[in-house]
Amino acid sequence: MCLMFTKGKVVIMRHLIDAKELLPEYVRKLISSAEDIIASPQQYVERCRGKVLATLFYEPSTRTRLSFESAMLGLGGSVIGFSSADSSSAAKGESVADTIRTVSCYADICAIRHPKEGSALVAALNSGIPVINAGDGGHQHPTQTLTDLLSIHCIKNKLGGLNIGLCGDLKFGRTVHSLIHAMSMYENNSFVLVSPEELRIPDYIRQEMIKHNISFIETEDLQRAITEMDVLYMTRVQRERFFNEEDYVRLKDTYILDKSKLALAKKDLAVMHPLPRVNEISVEVDDDPRSVYFKQARYGRFIRMALILDLLDIL
Ligand code: CP
Repeated sequence: MCLMFTKGKVVIMRHLIDAKELLPEYVRKLISSAEDIIASPQQYVERCRGKVLATLFYEPSTRTRLSFESAMLGLGGSVIGFSSADSSSAAKGESVADTIRTVSCYADICAIRHPKEGSALVAALNSGIPVINAGDGGHQHPTQTLTDLLSIHCIKNKLGGLNIGLCGDLKFGRTVHSLIHAMSMYENNSFVLVSPEELRIPDYIRQEMIKHNISFIETEDLQRAITEMDVLYMTRVQRERFFNEEDYVRLKDTYILDKSKLALAKKDLAVMHPLPRVNEISVEVDDDPRSVYFKQARYGRFIRMALILDLLDIL
């Protein structure tokens, strides 16, 4: 949150930088708004008329950038931006701080993705408009967390009392870190953390879970663990975060969810994935009703609509 002075008045400007800002009350408000948008989209088609969203993407993206743009267009607003550092003046050496000062002259709100951790915070500190972190390196991706929470809420009709499996690259997967934090705030959730030894969750997350008495186990055995899960959140091994290609190649196919493994799971398991997937979910399970990852990508648009409205104070 920042205080701005406009025409002698103090204006509170809010950003979304860190998933830790997603306290249950705020999540409830955004989910409720997103569900209303899903139910009555026509009521929202003019809400952002005259407003401009800037998407500043210094790193590749399909879902996040396009769902933000689709969200703003669905609200009647307009979109400007760039989809790679090469096509902006960053290629000439411009800083994030200078870029955001400039973008503040042209847009009302912006979403930024940058490979460097902390870049979204730097942007917010120098911005004249609300800034949404659309992913900063291996650090945070709070709108993916919101997408995941809306998806679980819509599919399971609750956010507590769930056994949540997280599988794959739990070391570098920023969406996993944020989801554990967010789902730990709801009662009676327990976690099964499935990864190879080298890709276990960072110790600071393990210590946080212990400190807050969150129930969790760590295992390398997906086949055994899958039987008790209500949600299985698969992740890809994050090639771009590895220092060594050999390690990536050795670990990338450790887990592949296929028909034989899914056959062991509960009938109402929800298989989620932030996408993009590589090999970790076989395409043969895409038609299984438990595979909800494309539904999840769709929910991302609605929760981003709710967030844009909230940060622009139009909700
Ligand atoms: N889930 C996600 O962030 O996907 P993109 O990298 O395609 O935006």
